[in-house]
Amino acid sequence: MTDTVRHLTGITTTGTPHLGNYVGAIRPAIAASNVAGTEAFFFLADYHALVKCDDPARVERSRLEIAATWLACGLDPQRVTFYRQSDVPEIPELTWLLTCVTAKGLMNRAHAYKASVDANAAAGEDADAGISLGLYSYPVLMAADILMFNAHRVPVGRDQVQHIEMARDIAQRFNHLFGNGRELFVLPEADIEESVSTLPGLDGRKMSKSYDNTIPLFEGGPKRLREAILRIVTDSKQPGEAKDPDSAHLFAIFRAFASHAETAQMRAALEDGLGWGEAKQRVYERLEAELAPMRARYDALIAKPDDIEAVLQAGARNARAVAAPFLAELRAAVGLRAFGHGSFSTQQPAAKQAQPQFKQYRGDDGQFYFKLVDGDGRPLLQSVAFASPREAGQLIGQLRGSAAPALRVADDEVFTGDTCIGRLQAGTEAAALTAALAALAGE
Ligand code: TRP
Repeated sequence: MTDTVRHLTGITTTGTPHLGNYVGAIRPAIAASNVAGTEAFFFLADYHALVKCDDPARVERSRLEIAATWLACGLDPQRVTFYRQSDVPEIPELTWLLTCVTAKGLMNRAHAYKASVDANAAAGEDADAGISLGLYSYPVLMAADILMFNAHRVPVGRDQVQHIEMARDIAQRFNHLFGNGRELFVLPEADIEESVSTLPGLDGRKMSKSYDNTIPLFEGGPKRLREAILRIVTDSKQPGEAKDPDSAHLFAIFRAFASHAETAQMRAALEDGLGWGEAKQRVYERLEAELAPMRARYDALIAKPDDIEAVLQAGARNARAVAAPFLAELRAAVGLRAFGHGSFSTQQPAAKQAQPQFKQYRGDDGQFYFKLVDGDGRPLLQSVAFASPREAGQLIGQLRGSAAPALRVADDEVFTGDTCIGRLQAGTEAAALTAALAALAGE
């Protein structure tokens, strides 16, 4: 089993699925799950949905609709471990373990958070107005989703690539701190299907709920589908005039559903002057042929929510069968172990040397200081006094950096250039100080 590739992807349960979701995510993920030699974990990211939605009725409805959609589109729960994130309590528990090793600075760089900050700035609001910690640490929960199951590949849209990179960063850090030389977590990779990643919407921009240009997948039935297709924007060429298929969103949408032969036929017809009205009718018929049987399954599923519940509960049991023993290992690795006989620590190789640390504090004199202590907490360097914590912090920043200023030690006093920055602590060799700083710079 070791060379089975494990695919895992999460589906945020907000909104109603549209054609762009189907072409860009649902269809390729289901196709991938049917490839031999792969193992698939698909789940409803309903904890993530809470970040975006505080309307319980909508959260509930959306979970049900999205579960039914995936099943109707051909997800086979016998092949795929299909579950709700919120039915696997090991995921939020792992989230905390990861939160404790995640640099706040890493989260500051997350696109979604930065976009909210920028929007606040543009609106003249406080930078953090309306931003919850859930939004801020969204990537940590997502890392837990992925790392909990040691997924190798994560099929996602381009907008999620940064999150996968963050999951790798967090995994690496955790492995480094707690792995004792072992790779506890697999480092996941994003899987982007270049050919299918974006479907244009009614106006030609990427089909997306945020642009309000979507065509619903099942909602509203054939009537809504037809109406939406009629609203796809085209140029003003008349029937009989040659059309340029490659600049027509209508053609791009058709192509996402049609075979090569059908696509070639449509291309020729448009170049031959097929009118837009007639072309839209053909697009509608082609899409409806593919969607109708799935819609019928969807309607049947939605009418029996208990059956969907049972499928998801079974999926959660399977997911937990993987997650629970792994989480027990991870808890032990960070030191959350049973006391007493057989304590894990006695069987483990000596823990990796802890890193030196800077400790900032305020002295009784009201001035600001820092110490550098080694991995065992022994003081190496005691700083001079600073008027503000910022000045102390700036120097620490320089000393920690890879381009740290050269240090000179004279009579136990430590200098950068001509400035005395502190004093070596009793018994500390200059070499020990240099080594500690090098260890920090290499972190
Ligand atoms: N954030 C993803 C999205 O909005 C959904 C998601 C949550 C996810 N957890 C995940 C995707 C884990 C892949 C893996 O699309």
